Amino acid sequence: MTAAASSSERRPDEALEVETLLVSIADAVATIVINRPEKRNALNAAVRREIVEVLDALRAREDVRVIVFTGAGDRAFVAGADIGEFAERTPVEQRAVMEGRRVFDEVAACPKPTIAMINGYAFGGGCELALACDIRIAARSAKLGQPEIRLGILPGGGGTQRLPRLIGAGRALRMILSGEAISAEEAERIGLVDEVVDDDRLHEAVTSLARQIAAHSPLTLRLAKDAVRAAFETPLSAGLALERELFITAFGSADREEGVRAFLEKRAAEFKGR
Ligand code: COA
Repeated sequence: MTAAASSSERRPDEALEVETLLVSIADAVATIVINRPEKRNALNAAVRREIVEVLDALRAREDVRVIVFTGAGDRAFVAGADIGEFAERTPVEQRAVMEGRRVFDEVAACPKPTIAMINGYAFGGGCELALACDIRIAARSAKLGQPEIRLGILPGGGGTQRLPRLIGAGRALRMILSGEAISAEEAERIGLVDEVVDDDRLHEAVTSLARQIAAHSPLTLRLAKDAVRAAFETPLSAGLALERELFITAFGSADREEGVRAFLEKRAAEFKGR
């Protein structure tokens, strides 16, 4: 998927040096393309660092309301961690890497809605990157898997935690213990992806959903995301209490006044995030 290599391509922050990603912003939707197609977009240290930096910059921009992740080329979303980097690394060095800011956790904690546009192999860290996003849409030819076991390791970017929460322990264990890849259609059947579309419709399907989300109040989007996230962190009673408080926060916003007024006046609302 090379949509981001269009004329609308620009850096989210002119001060950022972004070498391994293509970042474009159009209609309040930022697209981050992991751009190492010759290595099937494997996540090396530079890609991880730059995703974290770009997310910091995009978080601060009011003109960005939704963030889409995808991979360059037509083969891979992300084929996992860069295996070449594992070869020489000691456990002490690996610990230092894993104790720093983690790209998957940064994506999962992003206050803006995120969509994984899965345009090919999503293996290992690629599957984990997709898991860290709010919504996953896959091309019919995509394949997903957690093949780490074949290398004598296990998923280390949240796969053992986010995958079973999404698809259940049995299915997650099957994927993690077998290392087998599954088709996009199978991933949709078990809830690992939310929608599968024909390859040539992937960009259009994701763009249309992203724009639909981006038209809503950024404040309320954030509150809704916080509420749903809490469902996985808290007992039901605490989650329901949080939902009530977030609802009341939204109720006090200028965007709620605008949304209700626009409905009554039969016009599209113009949300400001206040
Ligand atoms: N890390 C580092 N390099 C990778 C990589 C990874 N995760 N995945 C692919 N590459 C590199 C290959 O080494 C190859 O590099 P080279 O041209 O310098 O030899 C290049 O990308 C193309 O890979 P290739 O295997 O020829 O492409 P393919 O389209 O036939 O197959 C995959 C793609 C993704 C099925 C296959 O590359 C693969 O299984 N990769 C490893 C996936 C994995 O185990 N991920 C979990 C890591 S923890």
